[in-house]
Amino acid sequence: MRRKLAAGNWKMNGTAADFAEIKALIADFPAPNVDLLICPPATLIAQMNWAKGAHPLMLGGQDCHAKPSGAHTGDISAPMLAQAGAAQVILGHSERRADHFETDASVAAKATAAHAAGLIAVICIGETLEQRSLGATLDVVQTQLAASVPGGAAGANTVIAYEPVWAIGTGKVPTLPEIAEVHAKIRADLTQRFGADGGNFRILYGGSVKPANAADIFALPDVDGALVGGASLKAVDFGAIIAALIAA
Ligand code: PGA
Repeated sequence: MRRKLAAGNWKMNGTAADFAEIKALIADFPAPNVDLLICPPATLIAQMNWAKGAHPLMLGGQDCHAKPSGAHTGDISAPMLAQAGAAQVILGHSERRADHFETDASVAAKATAAHAAGLIAVICIGETLEQRSLGATLDVVQTQLAASVPGGAAGANTVIAYEPVWAIGTGKVPTLPEIAEVHAKIRADLTQRFGADGGNFRILYGGSVKPANAADIFALPDVDGALVGGASLKAVDFGAIIAALIAA
């Protein structure tokens, strides 16, 4: 049985004050059947880890370097994230693929580093609008999945986030059958590659998840939760999304 996961990606937003709001919110969600994850800017991880006390909320990074240490100005390694209190790390988000020229191979190397540091890797994949309009969505997603997920991946250490690039921050979402089609394909590929353990990977949908659409998306087969950007910064919205996931 896969545990559901509600993950918030704060991107380059958020302050300690935002966390105080989220902390009040998560007090309402001991979340017996749902894992909660917030990925704030790395500068806030240690502080938030201290502030959350014994609450099972997990914290995560938004990227890590493939090497554990070295001359890489401005980068943060997976062991550093773990030491700050992170349990997971988002890798290969489309904004990093676009802004920092990350490739499937570099994402896979980062995921291997994350695993070595004991972090769960949340690996993001998804097509652009142009690729969808060309009918290439499944090809693109399957290629990214195959090349971004490293050999050492397992259901226990890796989460897949399907995030259509054109749905991120736009208020646009694929239709429910379109989401279901991609998630089913991801599940089939994971099962083909990892055998029975392919059934243990959580597959999240991400891209303009809001309180108004969350319940319908969470009702789909092979949708195990969401990676939420903008709405995760608003406690009332993230709370409604978490509630929808608990109820799903
Ligand atoms: P959004 O972002 O929820 O603001 O669309 C999702 C993401 O980028 O993970």
